Parts: sequence; C-alpha cells; structure tokens
Amino acid sequence: MANPKITIHMVASLDGFIAKDDNDLSWMQSTDAYEKGTQLTEDQITEFVNSIDCYVMGATTYEHALQLGWVYGDTPVVVVTNRDLETEKPSVRFYGGDLSVLVTELKSKYSNIWMVGGAVLTKAFLQQDLADEIVYTIMPVLLGKGLLFFDFIGKEKRLHLKDTTAYNDGMVELTYEVIKEQPL
Ligand SMILES: NC(=O)c1ccc[n+]([C@@H]2O[C@H](COP(=O)([O-])OP(=O)(O)OC[C@H]3O[C@@H](n4cnc5c(N)ncnc54)[C@H](OP(=O)(O)O)[C@@H]3O)[C@@H](O)[C@H]2O)c1
Repeated sequence: MANPKITIHMVASLDGFIAKDDNDLSWMQSTDAYEKGTQLTEDQITEFVNSIDCYVMGATTYEHALQLGWVYGDTPVVVVTNRDLETEKPSVRFYGGDLSVLVTELKSKYSNIWMVGGAVLTKAFLQQDLADEIVYTIMPVLLGKGLLFFDFIGKEKRLHLKDTTAYNDGMVELTYEVIKEQPL
C-alpha cells in the first residue's frame, strides 16, 4: 500500500476525557454555536467515512459499540483482546498478539487505518510508536472527571500540527502527525 497510516481518533472534552464514569454520552452532542465554524455536508461525511479502510479498537470500546449500535458498517474491524471472543459479524476479527505485527499486516492491506480507542489501546499504540497521526476532536465541555484520552503514556512524543478545523457547533478538530522515534 502507498503511504499507509494509522490514525488514532477520539472525541474528548477540553479537559481530556473520552468517557464519563456513568458512560452517559450526551456531552458528545454539542449544543454550542460558533458562527465562524464550518459545517460538513452529508456527502462530505459519507466521503470521509468511506475513505476509512479498516478500524482497530480495544475490546471495551467494541463492547460499548455493540451496545450503542454498530456504526462501522461492513468496513473491516480488528478488535484487540486477550479473550476468546466470538462474533457473527463477518467484518470483525479478534487479535491478541504483538501489536507491531498487527500494524505491519494491516499496513500491507490498507492505507487509511483508524484506531478508534479506547484509552488502554491508545496508550499501547503510543508507547510502541505505532501511530502515524492523531486526530483529536475537542467538544466544548469540561467533564471534570472520567477516562483520560492520554492516560500517562510515560514518554515524550513530538508532534507536527497538520490541520485544524473549527465547526459551527463549537467542535474543534486537531490533526497531528506523530514524529517517529529514531532507531538507536
Ligand atoms: N470519546 C471517544 O471518542 C471514545 C472512543 C473510544 C472509546 N471510548 C470509550 O472509552 C471506554 C473504553 O476505553 P478503555 O480504555 O476502557 O478500553 P479499550 O482500550 O477500548 O479496551 C481495553 C481492552 O482492550 C484489550 N487490549 C488493549 N490493549 C491490548 C493489548 N495490547 N493486547 C491485547 N489486548 C489489549 C483488552 O481486552 P481484554 O480484556 O478483552 O483482553 C483491554 O481490556 C468506553 O467507555 C468507550 O465508550 C470513547
């Protein structure tokens, strides 16, 4: 694949939380208004979603996604787990091995791979330097507590700001390239 990349994407509050303790999701529906912000059309959203070749997620995120209603259609999804999970969805497979082996395999098949959470898997991807890009969608809210997006990664990562978009509902999207660590 030409220039395959792994993008970590999550929606978070300004204070960095991706989930509330009670799992209430109403904070993800912005009621704010920002008149200088842009608004995506349905066609743009469809084009964007169709550009994603494969999703990767942790088992907890997968279980929540099943409860909330599957939004990934027939796009291939790899669920990272150490358990022997089963599914009737032909697009879903489970993986419990070395993450760098998984990333090499996925990059040989797909070009636009989205790692969509949660915090545990994000930490593993960043600690092992497996992410090429981070897309951070900030909601106009402070949650005060909950599950952190970046849960004490334990190492410094240099980033390059590639893009910013402010939306008319007060959401701000930051896109960063993760500068790869130099081999010793
Ligand atoms: N705001 C957002 O955009 C967003 C996005 C995604 C998720 N979320 C929320 O975040 C929460 C889930 O996040 P989380 O951090 O608790 O869990 P998670 O990262 O989704 O999943 C953690 C689980 O994934 C498996 N796993 C992770 N790393 C692994 C590795 N290296 N090798 C093998 N298995 C691995 C383990 O599953 P097993 O126990 O099965 O082995 C682990 O218990 C949910 O509330 C979800 O709704 C929010």
